[in-house]
Amino acid sequence: MINLPLNVALVYNQKKEDLKEEKNSEPSEQSYNLSSEKFSETPVNTSADIYAEWDTFETIDAVRQALAEIHNVTMIEADEYAYHKLQQLKPDIVFNIAEGLNGVSREAQIPAILELLQIPYTGSDPLTLGLCLDKARTKEILTYNGIPTPSFVLISKLSELAGASVRFPSIVKPQHEGSSKGIYNASIVRNWDELVAQLKFVLETYNQPALVEQFIEGREFTVALLGNGSDVRVLPIVEIKFDSLPQNVNPIYSYEAKWIWDNSESPLDIFECPASISPALQTEIEDVCLKTYKVMRCRDWCRIDVRLDADGKPNILELNPLPGILPKPEDNSCFPKAARSAGLNYNQLMQQVLHNAAERYGLSNNKTDN
Ligand SMILES: Nc1ncnc2c1ncn2[C@@H]1O[C@H](COP(=O)(O)OP(=O)(O)OP(=O)(O)O)[C@@H](O)[C@H]1O
Ligand SMILES: [Mg+2]
Repeated sequence: MINLPLNVALVYNQKKEDLKEEKNSEPSEQSYNLSSEKFSETPVNTSADIYAEWDTFETIDAVRQALAEIHNVTMIEADEYAYHKLQQLKPDIVFNIAEGLNGVSREAQIPAILELLQIPYTGSDPLTLGLCLDKARTKEILTYNGIPTPSFVLISKLSELAGASVRFPSIVKPQHEGSSKGIYNASIVRNWDELVAQLKFVLETYNQPALVEQFIEGREFTVALLGNGSDVRVLPIVEIKFDSLPQNVNPIYSYEAKWIWDNSESPLDIFECPASISPALQTEIEDVCLKTYKVMRCRDWCRIDVRLDADGKPNILELNPLPGILPKPEDNSCFPKAARSAGLNYNQLMQQVLHNAAERYGLSNNKTDN
C-alpha cells in the first residue's frame, strides 16, 4: 500500500439534500403501489429517483476522510466547471466517484476529461463506464463471450412489441439507469397488459428504451471485485435475501427495497455476507464474475450482480463499475459490507482502490523513487 501522500482530487456529484429527507419520510402511496394492473397506478416518481445515483454529503465526506488519512485531498464537484478546475489543479490522481447527469455516457464524461488532461484516475475507463450503463450492449458482449445472462429484447416504442417474442414472467427495466431507478415491484410483468403498462411507464418516464428481460427467480448475489490483472480479488459474496421484504411483493431488489423499505432507522435484514453457499457454487460464481470483469475490462473495482436461473446456473444481471459506497454499516451498502467481511474497513477499502489505480499508473514507484 502507498504510504506517501499523493495530491488527490476527489471528483463527485452530490445528491440534493431534499432527496435524503424524502427517503426518510413516509413514501407516497404511488411510490410503492403493488398493483400493476393499470398504467395510472404504476409508480411515477421521477422527482424521487432522478438523483438516486448521486452520493450524499455523508458518503462523499467519508471518502474524503478515508483518503485524507494518507493523502492531500481536494474536492471537485463534477459539474460543467470541473474541466477547468482539474486543468488548474493538476492533481497526481483523481479518485472518481462522479456519476454524471446528462446523457447515456454520463459516467464516462469525467474519465474522458481526465484522459484528455492526462491525469490518472481510479476505476474503469470511459469505454467500460459507458458500456456498463448500456445494459443491452453489455449483455450482447457477455453473450458473445459465452457468459450467461437472461435473454432480452430492447423496445424503443410500443409498436416494436408487435414482432417481439416475450416469455412471461419478464422484468421491464430502463436501458441506461442504476440504483434501481425505474425498477419497482410492478416491473415484473406476467401478461401482455402488465407488459404494455410497464413499458409505457419506462418509455415515458425515463425517455429511453426499455429492456424486456427474462425474469429468473433463483437466489441473487452481488459480488465485489477489487484489483487488476492477475491480482483481482473477489471479496466475500453477498446474498440478497428476499424473505426479508414485505409479504406478497416480488422477489427483486427494487427501488422500494433499496431506498424506501430499507433505511438507516429500520434497516432491512436483506444481506447475508458471506453467503451460505456450497464451495462449488462459490467457485462457479467467482469464476463467472472474474471472467465478466475481464471481458468488460474493469479496473480497480466493480460490483457485479448475479442471479441463478432455473438450472441453478449463475447469470450476470449487470455490472456496477462505480459501486455504491454508503459508509455506515446500517446503510446496507454491498461493497463496503463485502470489504468488512474480508477484514477491510471503509477507509482501508478506499485507500486500496486508490492504491490499485496508483499502481496501474506506476505512481507508487515514482513517488518512492523521488
Ligand atoms: N432478469 C432478471 N431476473 C430476475 N431479477 C432481476 C432481473 N433483472 C433485474 N432483476 C432484479 O432487479 C434488481 C435491480 O436490477 P438491476 O441490477 O438491473 O438494476 P440497477 O438499477 O442497475 O441496480 P444497481 O442498484 O445495482 O445499480 C436486481 O437486483 C434483481 O433483484
Ligand atoms: Mg443492480
